[in-house]
Amino acid sequence: MSIYQIAIDGPAGSGKSTVAKEVANMLDFLYVDTGAMYRAITLKILRDNIDLNDQNKLINEARKCKITFKKKDNNSQIVMLNDENVSNDIRNPYVTATVSHISKIQGIRKSLVKLQQELGAENSVVMEGRDIGSVVFPKAFLKIYLTASIAERAKRRFEEYEASGVECDLDKLKTEIAERDLIDSTRKNSPLTKVHDAIEIETDNLNASQVAEKIINLFREKLENENSI
Ligand code: DC
Repeated sequence: MSIYQIAIDGPAGSGKSTVAKEVANMLDFLYVDTGAMYRAITLKILRDNIDLNDQNKLINEARKCKITFKKKDNNSQIVMLNDENVSNDIRNPYVTATVSHISKIQGIRKSLVKLQQELGAENSVVMEGRDIGSVVFPKAFLKIYLTASIAERAKRRFEEYEASGVECDLDKLKTEIAERDLIDSTRKNSPLTKVHDAIEIETDNLNASQVAEKIINLFREKLENENSI
């Protein structure tokens, strides 16, 4: 049986998670949210009060983290950190504010990339993140780069927070997103970037199902082309 990797990269709030989950469901592939892995490590570091300037300690702390995913239902997944369900805690604003700092560290990226590559070697996957098409699976079967304007991305985050009862401010969200974009795209290790063979989809005027449908069509077209060679 063939194994396929679909890489979905893009900045915060570009709609990656919703779209990737939908594509994975439709194709019955494993969905892997790599941002959740960086968030789980960040949560552990914050809980244990590790000095954020001490790289060695941060890397050691990351080594103590066992991160796994459990499928809850078709539209959601549980993130486990050392056998504890941390799905909600990894979305808290403290984690969000610190995760860009943690995900810059090469020693932490290295171990997570290895884990991600193992998942994609054993299963067909839809994997979303920042460096999936560039570093994790440079030979992925299909690479997608999702974009959206900062205003649209902040609006989406605002609605997500509102729905889960978390208070927030739209202007503050815009600033945070712009700051996170800057850190993620200018960092030395695996910066967020659109690789030459990724297909860019601008999502401002599309809903998640429309984007998912586009990706499924691209996947099927590619499959047909491969089979006709
Ligand atoms: O997608 P997200 O917002 O949950 O990601 C959280 C952070 O993790 C984000 O600031 C960038 C980082 N990240 C990364 O560096 N590489 C990935 N493959 C996924 C996320």
